[in-house]
Amino acid sequence: MIRFRDVTKHYPRSGTALGEVSFHVRKGEFVFLTGPSGAGKTTVLRLVHMEIAPTRGDVMVSRFSSSRIRRREIPQLRRRVGFVFQDFRLLERFTAEENVAFALQVTGASRSEIKPKVHRLLDHVGLAPRATAYPNELSGGERQRVAIARALATDPLVLLADEPTGNLDERASIGVFELVRRVNGLGTAVVFATHDATLLRRYQDVRVLELEGGRLVYDSGTDAAARPPLRRAPGAPIFELLDEKAAASTAGEGAGPTA
Ligand SMILES: Nc1ncnc2c1ncn2[C@@H]1O[C@H](COP(=O)(O)OP(=O)(O)O)[C@@H](O)[C@H]1O
Ligand SMILES: [Mg+2]
Repeated sequence: MIRFRDVTKHYPRSGTALGEVSFHVRKGEFVFLTGPSGAGKTTVLRLVHMEIAPTRGDVMVSRFSSSRIRRREIPQLRRRVGFVFQDFRLLERFTAEENVAFALQVTGASRSEIKPKVHRLLDHVGLAPRATAYPNELSGGERQRVAIARALATDPLVLLADEPTGNLDERASIGVFELVRRVNGLGTAVVFATHDATLLRRYQDVRVLELEGGRLVYDSGTDAAARPPLRRAPGAPIFELLDEKAAASTAGEGAGPTA
């Protein structure tokens, strides 16, 4: 799903942010990307999102390669890659539901598609009751859930999270982690950049990639909790399976679990 081959990134003026970094994240995998401030975590995520191009080497995301992608294909790539930030980056003058809807409007989705989808997304992140709240009426944890719903609006195959718990207390951090883990269980690969020691200690089964000074210094190599990756076609709805289960349980009352 994501492959870095000997990726080096120089920024003008500040020198080498990444040096010859190689790794592979498979479909449906969950990875912590860690390392101290300045190690290159955000640079890795921006390369995956193709906001920046490597100076040398190649970044592959789904079927797109940084060396061959055309400018007009970038929006297609971005639809497959959701992004969540430490500082949420919600539009303050828009409500929670409008923030999520906006991500769909820019893809040209119709009004009749957008409304039910926004509600489904907010429902799955636990924020349906706060749909009409403005960001400044929400807690940090709630804002991050809105940001996650927005990032999932295009049913991405990859979710990138850049220190998403950096502004949250421990309880909200664990809530956000658990939500992202659930999204991962539904077939979305996740790269979760963090140096949050609580999370790293608490979830030791998660694969860890560690950067230091732009070098990849450690790869634990396995995600012990990983289920066989759930294959979801590009653009297939992320919460489809949960929605199907919900529909089945309301339709088949008393029928017990289906085979
Ligand atoms: N846009 C930029 N221009 C110049 N230098 C940058 C830019 N972004 C990051 N850097 C430098 O690249 C290095 C890696 O930064 P970054 O990827 O943001 O690390 P992290 O996210 O791990 O804190 C740092 O030395 C930083 O100063
Ligand atoms: Mg960073």
